[in-house]
Amino acid sequence: MLVLGIESSCDETGVALVRTQSGGVPVLLAHALHSQIEMHQAYGGVVPELASRDHIRRVLPLAEEVLAESGRRLPEVDVVAYTRGPGLAGALLVGAGVACALGAALNRPVLGVHHLEGHLLSPFLSADPPEFPFVALLVSGGHTQLMRVEGVGRYELLGETIDDAAGEAFDKSAKLMGLGYPGGPALSRLAQQGDPAAFKLPRPLLHSGNLDFSFAGLKTAVLTQARKLGDDLEARKADLAASTQAAIVDVLVKKSLTALRETGLRRIVVAGGVGANQLLRAQLDAACARLGVRVHYPELHLCTDNGAMIAMAAAMRLQSGQQQARFDYAFDVKPRWPLNAIDGA
Ligand code: KG4
Ligand code: ZN
Repeated sequence: MLVLGIESSCDETGVALVRTQSGGVPVLLAHALHSQIEMHQAYGGVVPELASRDHIRRVLPLAEEVLAESGRRLPEVDVVAYTRGPGLAGALLVGAGVACALGAALNRPVLGVHHLEGHLLSPFLSADPPEFPFVALLVSGGHTQLMRVEGVGRYELLGETIDDAAGEAFDKSAKLMGLGYPGGPALSRLAQQGDPAAFKLPRPLLHSGNLDFSFAGLKTAVLTQARKLGDDLEARKADLAASTQAAIVDVLVKKSLTALRETGLRRIVVAGGVGANQLLRAQLDAACARLGVRVHYPELHLCTDNGAMIAMAAAMRLQSGQQQARFDYAFDVKPRWPLNAIDGA
């Protein structure tokens, strides 16, 4: 079975084609991506209306690219999958509209995918896919969650952020240091030249006794520190970036280890844009090696949003019998959609 996947929830347009295989993990045949980062950079963040318009321009050429690269033709596609939510409403509507139009034209069923499930299952696109069950640390621009994952569609929330997400903490701190958008990669690049112990920043909820996170206070502490530095900020920026990154990563790693201890699981999967962070990878790898726990990441270029993870999640849901694709083209999207409500669609 061939599944075409379309991602358009935020600032990347992604299209991919995967093929299911009996008794095995689906295989990625091709994927294509267009990032809108350059377009939004002028505004210091994502402009939703511009995002939607750009998805419209990009999605079909990307689909053609994917088909050409995989040597397939559109009528060979068996199911058309798209990101149904969460995300920007207008942006989601582009992917959903195009997917349902393709489905109707080809007389093929469609399937709406949860964006976070896409991230969660993205490590299955790597050469060394994980096995169930595992702990998942989901760290994106909008979400920070620890989950116990028993299988496709069987997700138990262990803890999550009560305010900002980890990616947001990177982005907002970077913004107030004048590092532009997206902040995560910029801040972590600058941090390489700084001293992570230069500033004492809070590690919110580190000892809260549960698996919840809070990053809003950290952002305020970074702002206070930046103001205190005044004219010296420019000279100390790398130190402040390094200290900020160290605080965020410290909390993510410690809480992940607590989740592993509490669940007794011996495997952890890290997914979402912040999973590209090299310090997070290095610290988690080191800690897990000491404990004999396996860590799985998506390939670096599939950490941030892409179509491959949407096609993959759709294929895995279909293969596991969790969901059936439907000949129903009256699409709706879900800009807000908790992952644990995925079956109540
Ligand atoms: O998963 P994603 O592409 O989009 C959402 O679904 O939100 O995640 C984007 C987030 C942004 O906050 C971005 O700053 C962050 O991931 N990010 C990083 C890195 N690369 C992306 N944060 C820290 N270090 C990175 N290398
Ligand atoms: Zn995402």
